Amino acid sequence: MKVFLYMVAVALAWDAIHCFYMPNKEFGHVRSSAPAQSWFPRVRRLSRPAHRVIDPTEDCFLVTSEEGELFFKSPSDEPSVCGIYMIAEPDKRIEVIFNYLDVPCEDGGLVAWVDGWELNGQVWPADTWDDDRVVETCDQRPQRKLVSRQNAALVQYRVPAQGKGFAVTVRHIRNARPCNVMVFGSEGVYTLRNHGETGNCSLLTISPSTMRVLDLNVGQTIKKGHMLELETGPIHHCTKRGLADYVDIGGASGLDHTKMEVLDSVCGLDSNEARRAALIACEDTVVRLVSSGQYYNSVTVAFAPLPAEDIERADLLCGFNDM
Ligand SMILES: *[C@@H]1O[C@H](CO)[C@@H](O)[C@H](O)[C@H]1NC(C)=O
Repeated sequence: MKVFLYMVAVALAWDAIHCFYMPNKEFGHVRSSAPAQSWFPRVRRLSRPAHRVIDPTEDCFLVTSEEGELFFKSPSDEPSVCGIYMIAEPDKRIEVIFNYLDVPCEDGGLVAWVDGWELNGQVWPADTWDDDRVVETCDQRPQRKLVSRQNAALVQYRVPAQGKGFAVTVRHIRNARPCNVMVFGSEGVYTLRNHGETGNCSLLTISPSTMRVLDLNVGQTIKKGHMLELETGPIHHCTKRGLADYVDIGGASGLDHTKMEVLDSVCGLDSNEARRAALIACEDTVVRLVSSGQYYNSVTVAFAPLPAEDIERADLLCGFNDM
């Protein structure tokens, strides 16, 4: 419950900060506020799914980790842009079905499914963004199930017609190979893996955090053939040493982790827990695993909220480079 309250606070803060941008912003990119709880087991649900009516005055920026049905009916002809920011457990994807949609295209009426999150002009996950991630519609309900590639997705809407609206059913479905993960709340242990693939995977927590590497296996476990695995300890400046696989640890001032500020870059094999946690005083804390595809890489990190009194002695304070 603490987690959820924190998220709401964050959301409200965002709302306050970013609402100034809204009037001249094109659709497709919103902000809003609100609740969450997720305790549905993997077994078939017998109870009726949660049913919730979005209150446009309170829930324009709605952050939710619930499954169930959401219903929106526009209270006025105001062309305000709102969003439902959905988040699930790290090993889940989000599935959305539009059960009903009655949004006239006149006056800019629009509903969009976004496979990811967008906030203040920044998208996540930015490095795998493509046009397929956004499906816009009005008048016609998307017929197919919309499924996200990671554990966060967004429905944005602008319904400038009183009484018009839409209904969606949200489900969380299993993701056997999570790559990009957004963490809801600011405490936990998470393992990021490349599953032997080429490309980048990332973990983003929307809060200033302390971050400790518990286990590191990057650029060591070769996919083909056998090699004696030696405990190298953490190796720093891997790219300078010509090593293509590494983990960047740092923070970002927004959802776009490709613009992250890097505190430390490590690779190697190290099963000893880092002695000291990194204190990262940024809007978002980011761990980014870069993989050549030649190795099975994994990194396990523990993170916790950064206590306010530690901000002064933080290892990384974001936003000072561009000043
Ligand atoms: C992964 O990250 C590296 C280093 O930032 C970058 O050069 C590369 O283009 C990225 N790969 C993909 C698929 O985004």
